[in-house]
Amino acid sequence: MHTLPELLDRIAQYAAEQSFPDQPSMLYEPCDYILTLGGKRLRPATLLMGYELFRDSDDLSDALPAAWAVELFHNFTLMHDDIMDAAPLRRGQPTVHTRWNTTTGILSGDVMLIYAYQFLSRAATPDVVPGLLKTFNRVAIGVCEGQQLDVDFETRDDVSIPEYLRMIELKTAVLLGGALEMGALCARARHSDANHLYHFGRLAGTAFQIQDDLLDTYGDPAKFGKQVGGDILQNKKTLLVLKTLEVASEADRTELNRLMQTGSDHADTKIAAVRNLFNRNDIPAHIEAAKQQYQEEAFRHLDAVQVPEERKTVLRSTMEALLEREF
Ligand code: IPE
Ligand code: IPE
Ligand code: MG
Ligand code: MG
Ligand code: MG
Repeated sequence: MHTLPELLDRIAQYAAEQSFPDQPSMLYEPCDYILTLGGKRLRPATLLMGYELFRDSDDLSDALPAAWAVELFHNFTLMHDDIMDAAPLRRGQPTVHTRWNTTTGILSGDVMLIYAYQFLSRAATPDVVPGLLKTFNRVAIGVCEGQQLDVDFETRDDVSIPEYLRMIELKTAVLLGGALEMGALCARARHSDANHLYHFGRLAGTAFQIQDDLLDTYGDPAKFGKQVGGDILQNKKTLLVLKTLEVASEADRTELNRLMQTGSDHADTKIAAVRNLFNRNDIPAHIEAAKQQYQEEAFRHLDAVQVPEERKTVLRSTMEALLEREF
């Protein structure tokens, strides 16, 4: 079994062995750009950890192509997400559509999605490919559905907390669940274990997105790597907004609704005013509590996976650390 730093090294080494064609450079340069900006590589790492719950393999060759496919897919979603969210920064650097243009962001994203399928179909043991594709397609469709709901919610003022939770489960959490399930499939684990891992990832992924929403308003700009306050400017119906609408006085609710109808011309003023409303209503504590609930339910599924406890240590500690992340 490998530690997290060892797994990240293996992923980096595998990634370095792959290359895109040189031309057209406007298509492939942005792919190299985003892939080398230094994301956490959480999804491929957890896929490999899912695999290593069941199998010992020095070179990890049975699972690396699928792991890299998932990271390519993730980066495709980020490139398109940054266009949808009008985001200026990603991983501390200009987003692809601001450094190049929107057409480039769309098409370079598209080609990474196709490459993701190419890597999936290259799994070292071809008989696992149909199962991998089935899981991958299921969760990839979920991501698109979640992204659409996220955008729909920007212009709605009646989004409920259960609707929000379902939306983040789709846009973010199912991919983490899918990555873990795919790791189990590469290892030919039994169905019930693969299923528990999927739900572990789905629930932990929901907590992960709740944390992302919290960091979007409260993160340290020097660490977060994205524009702090971006969700407020886009009028995202995050749990912070929905909780405020649930617990605040009528005056604060009216003020928040008014702010969410203003544009982003006075960005800093709008962000500060919304953050004040959150602070005044003790929203970060509410958010932490919701995140904690998902986290606890998630780990019950990891507990239920039928392998000796010591095999779960790397996955368990990585996920625990991740849910306290600052970037
Ligand atoms: C960003 O994912 C998108 C979300 C689902 C919040 P990560 O926080 O895993 O981003 P990178 O890959 O580490 O940059
Ligand atoms: C991202 O949600 C989900 C996907 C990219 C599918 P966010 O829009 O919150 O992600 P960030 O904050 O831009 O990374
Ligand atoms: Mg975004
Ligand atoms: Mg988004
Ligand atoms: Mg976000």
